[in-house]
Amino acid sequence: MNNPLPLVVANLKANKTWDEISSWIDDVANLAQNFSGTIIFCPSSPFLAASYQKISQNGINLKLGSQDISRFEQGAYTGEVAASQIADICQFTIIGHSERRHNLKEDDETLRKKVENAKNAKIEPIFCVQNENTPIPQKVEIVAYEPIFAIGTGNPDTPENVQANAQRLMAKGDYTILYGGSVSAGNVKSFVKDSIQGVLVGATNSVDPQKFINIILSLK
Ligand code: PGA
Repeated sequence: MNNPLPLVVANLKANKTWDEISSWIDDVANLAQNFSGTIIFCPSSPFLAASYQKISQNGINLKLGSQDISRFEQGAYTGEVAASQIADICQFTIIGHSERRHNLKEDDETLRKKVENAKNAKIEPIFCVQNENTPIPQKVEIVAYEPIFAIGTGNPDTPENVQANAQRLMAKGDYTILYGGSVSAGNVKSFVKDSIQGVLVGATNSVDPQKFINIILSLK
């Protein structure tokens, strides 16, 4: 992984139409140009290709990530998006988000296959865990520590606890560790230091481009 740190992931979840996504990119583009870290923009899958075109045609300093990837490779899997189908346009993919573990009942074996497919397609997984006891598949390099109580609640973990969890995760492998859960412009600086090398920002503070811009500004 040779993208400049910190990594700041914008996970828009199932929000926005193409027009709104296009204007989100416009809003963030200028600031992204001068950001020394890496912004990873994760819109819904149907908008990845158009986002890619817009970003590459205009030389915008955003990387693209999918919010998920199929556990299957290309074939008779209606509705799925295989890693190799988006390998040309995505550099990252979120795998194991707690919303998918919970709502879609994704288990450890499913997530292991997703990581394997992503890696085979040269897409870097951003693997979400709740603590150091969550199994992390081999070859994962980026791990996002995301305690459930902090996701979408406005109630983030404490910086001390985040660092302690990052230390425990780093004892398990040579990971780049991100923190996710109610990250805002007001608290992002307290997380991104020492063992934490970026943040995963969910819908609360990424859907509104101004809130996301304020997070980037706080990191500068
Ligand atoms: P949040 O979500 O930033 O809205 O709390 C975080 C996440 O879903 O990863």
